[in-house]
Amino acid sequence: MSNSTPAPTSGLNPLGDELRGARTAKPCALVIFGATGDLTKRKLVPSLMGLAKDGLLPPGFAVVGFARRAWTDASFRAELADGVRQFGRSEAQASFEALAESFTFHQADFADAAGYRELKTKLEQIDRQRGTAGNRVFYLATPPSAYSSILRNLAAAGLSKQGDGRFAHVIVEKPFGRDLQTAVALNDQLREGFYERQVFRIDHYLGKETVQNILALRFSNHIFEPLWNEKFVDHVQLTVAESIGVGSRAGYFEESGIVRDMIQNHLMQVLTLVAMEPPVALTADAVRDEKVKVLRAIRSFKPEEVERATVRAQYTRGSFGGEMVNGYREEEGVSASSVTETYAAVRLHVENWRWAGTPFFLRSGKRLPRRVTEVAIHFKQPPHMLFEGGRSLQPNVLMLRIQPEEGIALRFGAKVPGHDVRIRDVRMDFRFGTAFGGETADAYERLLLDSMLGDSTLFARRDEVEEAWRIVDSIVAGWRQSQAKPTEYVAGTWGPEVANDLLGAGRTWRRP
Ligand code: BG6
Repeated sequence: MSNSTPAPTSGLNPLGDELRGARTAKPCALVIFGATGDLTKRKLVPSLMGLAKDGLLPPGFAVVGFARRAWTDASFRAELADGVRQFGRSEAQASFEALAESFTFHQADFADAAGYRELKTKLEQIDRQRGTAGNRVFYLATPPSAYSSILRNLAAAGLSKQGDGRFAHVIVEKPFGRDLQTAVALNDQLREGFYERQVFRIDHYLGKETVQNILALRFSNHIFEPLWNEKFVDHVQLTVAESIGVGSRAGYFEESGIVRDMIQNHLMQVLTLVAMEPPVALTADAVRDEKVKVLRAIRSFKPEEVERATVRAQYTRGSFGGEMVNGYREEEGVSASSVTETYAAVRLHVENWRWAGTPFFLRSGKRLPRRVTEVAIHFKQPPHMLFEGGRSLQPNVLMLRIQPEEGIALRFGAKVPGHDVRIRDVRMDFRFGTAFGGETADAYERLLLDSMLGDSTLFARRDEVEEAWRIVDSIVAGWRQSQAKPTEYVAGTWGPEVANDLLGAGRTWRRP
C-alpha cells in the first residue's frame, strides 16, 4: 500500500486546502470552568490556537476563564501563552499573540450564584464588543465534584437557554460519573438545564483522526465489510497501552482504576466503532444509534462470571528504560495496601448476528513497555491448509494503529522466493504520516470545533455512557464480590502472564 502512495513534498498536508474553510466555527464565547487547571493550559487553548492557525475560528470569538483563583486577565493570558508555547502546534503561538485580547478571566466561586449573574453581564458585553452573537459554549474542565453547582447555577442564571438563533452548548469532561448510578444522576441534572442536543460529553479518543478512520475504512471501502463478521473474524484485540505510571494523579486513580479510567470510555467507544452496523447516514444520531446497539448487545456479567472473563493486575517495581521505577503501591499518594488495578483485560461478547461467537478482548495498562493504541482484527485460518508448514503460519491480521505511527497494516502469507514452496508471513503497511504528511491535529481541536458547530457525532450520547457503565459496573461488582487481590506484573512488561489464558487455546496477545 505504501509503495503506491506518493510521498508528500513538504511537511504540509496536501489536502489542507480542501479541508480549510469547510467547517469554520460559528461566532461564540467559550467559557471554561476551571480555567486555571492543567487541561486549559495543555490542551484546550493550544488546540484553539491550532484551529485559529488553520483559519477555523470565526472572527467573533472570545474565551472567558472562570475559576476561583485571584488571577487577572494579564496573568491568565501569560499562563496561556506559556501553554501554547509548550504544547501548541508550530505557529500556534503567533495565533495566540494575535488573539490574546479575546481571553479574559472571571474570578468567582463555582457555588456562588452572583458570579454567574456577573458572567451573564460580561458575556453580553463581549457580544457587543467582539461579535460573539449571543452564542455560548460552556466547558466543564473542573473536578467532577463541581459539576453539580455549575450546572445548577448556569440554569438559574438563564445561561443554558437557547432561542432566537442563539445556542448554548455544554461540554462535560470525563470522568462522567464513577458508576451507572452517578452517571444517571449527572445526566438527570444536565437534563434539568439543557436538552440532549446541547450536551457534548467528551471522550477525547473520538477526536483522534485514526479513531474516526475506523469508520472511513469500514464504510468507504467495499472489500472489508463482507469479511467483517463472525464467519471470517476469529477474534478482535483492542489495546490501549501506556508507558507512564500513575504519576501525580494517584488521588484520582486510586478511586478509579484502569477499568473506569480507560475501559468504560475510550476502549468501549473504539469497540463500538469496530463492531457497529453501517449507519443510515453520518449524522450524530444515526451513528450513535448504531453504536449504542453494540453496547446493548453486550450482557452484564454475573458476579461469578467475572473471574473467568477478566484479569486485573498492578505493576510492581521494575526496570524501565534503564531505570528502576516504583511499583504502584510505592507511588506517592497510593495506599500500601491498595487493590486498585493498573492493568485490566476483559473478554466481551457482542451478542448479535454479526458477532455471535467472536470474542472481543480489551486490555489497557499503565507502565507497559510502550505507548500504543491499536485494534487488531484476527481472521480465521483458511479452512484447509495446502502448504506444508502452513500450521505454523499466523492467521491474517488487520491492524489499525491508532497511535503512535498511525496507520493500517495487513499480515498475510506469501511464498518465499526459491524453487521450493515455503510460505512466510509478510506485512503490507500504510502510514498516515507518509501518505498525508503534516502535523496531526490534537483530538481536542476537532472536538472543540464540533462543539462550536453543534455537531455531536463524536461525543458520547447519554444512553451510550449509561450502557458502558452498566457493563463496567458488573465487572467491578464481580471483583468486589470475589475479594481476590489484583495479580501483579513487573513494570516494563506486557502485563501478567495469566492474561494469555483469557484468550483461549491457540491465541496470544499481540506484542505491538
Ligand atoms: C485519559 C486517562 O482519559 O486518557 C489517562 O484519564 C490516560 O489516564 C489518557 O493517560 C490517555 O490518553 P492518550 O490520548 O494519551 O492516549
